[in-house]
Order: sequence, then C-alpha cells, then structure tokens
Amino acid sequence: MAITSTPRSTTEDDITAEALRRFESTPDTRLREIMLALVRHLHGFVKEVSLTEREWFDAVQFLSETGRMCDDKRQEFILLSDTLGVSMVVDLINHRKPEGATESTVFGPFHREGAAEMAAGDNIAPRDSGTPMIVSGRVLDLGGRPIAGAKLDVWQADSSGLYDSQYADSGELHMRGMFHTDDEGRYLVRTVRPVYYAIPDDGPVGRMLRATNRHPWRPAHVHFVVSADGYEPVTTHIFDDSDPYLESDTVFAVKDSLICHFVRHDDTDERARQLGIDPPFYTVEFDFVLKPRV
Ligand SMILES: [Fe+2]
Repeated sequence: MAITSTPRSTTEDDITAEALRRFESTPDTRLREIMLALVRHLHGFVKEVSLTEREWFDAVQFLSETGRMCDDKRQEFILLSDTLGVSMVVDLINHRKPEGATESTVFGPFHREGAAEMAAGDNIAPRDSGTPMIVSGRVLDLGGRPIAGAKLDVWQADSSGLYDSQYADSGELHMRGMFHTDDEGRYLVRTVRPVYYAIPDDGPVGRMLRATNRHPWRPAHVHFVVSADGYEPVTTHIFDDSDPYLESDTVFAVKDSLICHFVRHDDTDERARQLGIDPPFYTVEFDFVLKPRV
C-alpha cells in the first residue's frame, strides 16, 4: 500500500523552492543571504540554458581539473575568476575610491611572498636583458601631501612575458622587490620595460578561452601593492599607453586612470648615469594616492 505524506517536489521550481527553504534557518545572516542567492542564481542558470546531463558532467570535470591545476605556483581558479570578469566585479564593488585616490585592479595569480627589501633605484630585473626602465613618483594622501615610509610591493613579468614562478627552476625570486618612500614620499624602481603576455593557457581556462574565440593576452603592466600606516592599501597596476591589448585585456583589468606614457630616451641623462643605465631606456612617472583607513 502506498504511503501517504505531504507531496514531494515534482517540478524543477519545486526543487528550487525546497532547496531555498533548507537554507532559510542558516544562523549567520550573511551566510544565509549568500547561500540563498547562490541557489537562486545557480538554479536559474541551469533552467535558463536547460543544462543537459552531459554538460553538467563536463562542468564537474572542468572544475575538478581547475582545482587539480592549483598549487603554490599556479592558481587556475584565480585565472578562471579573472577571465570570467568576476575578479574585477569584486574589485569594483569593494574598492569604491573617493575622487583622486588611485584606483585598484586585479591582484592576479603571480604575486609571491618574500620579495627582497630594496633601496631606491635598486634593480628588480638584474638577470633580464630587456630595455631598462625607471619607474618613479610619489605616494601621496588625498590632500596631495607626501606619505613617507609607504611600502611598495612591486612585481612584473620579465621581457619574455613570463613570471619567475612560470619557470621550471622557479625557486629564486626575480622581477620582484619591496621599496619604501623617502621623506618626500618619493620612490624609485629600476626594472625593464614590461611586455604584453599571455596568461597560462595550457589548462582548462585556456581551453575555455579557445572554445569561446577569446585571446589570452594581457597588456604590458607593472604590479604594485602600495600601503602605509593609517591608509587603505591599494592593489593595482600601471599600464603602457602604447599597448595593443589595452582595449581587450583578457582579465578586464584596465582602468583609464592607470594608463601611463612610457617615455623612450635615446640619450643618457644624469639619473640614468647614476643608476648605471645606458640608452636606450624608458622612464615612467606615476603618483599613488591613498585614502585614509576608516
Ligand atoms: Fe601581471
């Protein structure tokens, strides 16, 4: 004899309603908000595209492979988030700056802890044969006053478009340094001119880009995290205004305020002489403006 009870879920909308009901009593209100929205949007997505079982299984395999590719040097999930534009949406809703403060952009998957402390003018690219470049400027508050002792964590790809962690013998840090501003808020970094580079595309993210007719290129840039006591740190890049990929950065990270003019010098000058740089070389100036910590 059939057991009678309350009706079971019979349609996809019944399942969605029941799944939402199961999360209703989540004690943490923020977690409750997130889980309810996640179920709502995820179910809505599956219904909108009428996901097949084959596609569902392919998605499970794709995410499993993305996880398997992650270790301390390769972060495929950050690449996935970056290439879907999610990282920049998170960045924008979390870092609404008052007028005048330096805008943030993606952290990216290539930062490494432990960069050497460097003095003004030290070279973060001692083993690179690219064209020398001097990056200089100041770190300022919103009123234009210099911030002394601000810290600049700097990193970039080498002139082959690769980060140190992408080489087989990647133990030693290269193209990275930790600088501090002087009493006038000035910083000075010696490096090489960055080049545009492809994000690692030998994994599931690369397959996704190819399947969707997208390129893997990022416009040339230098990464910075600038911080100082009493101020909100800013994670950002400076970009080369002549780069062909500024309009189509595969991770959507370009903001107009971060585009700089990299000036080419074919003759030497006093500062280059002091740093032991022969022409040709590039210079770029950029002032970072921090907002006070709230
Ligand atoms: Fe980068």
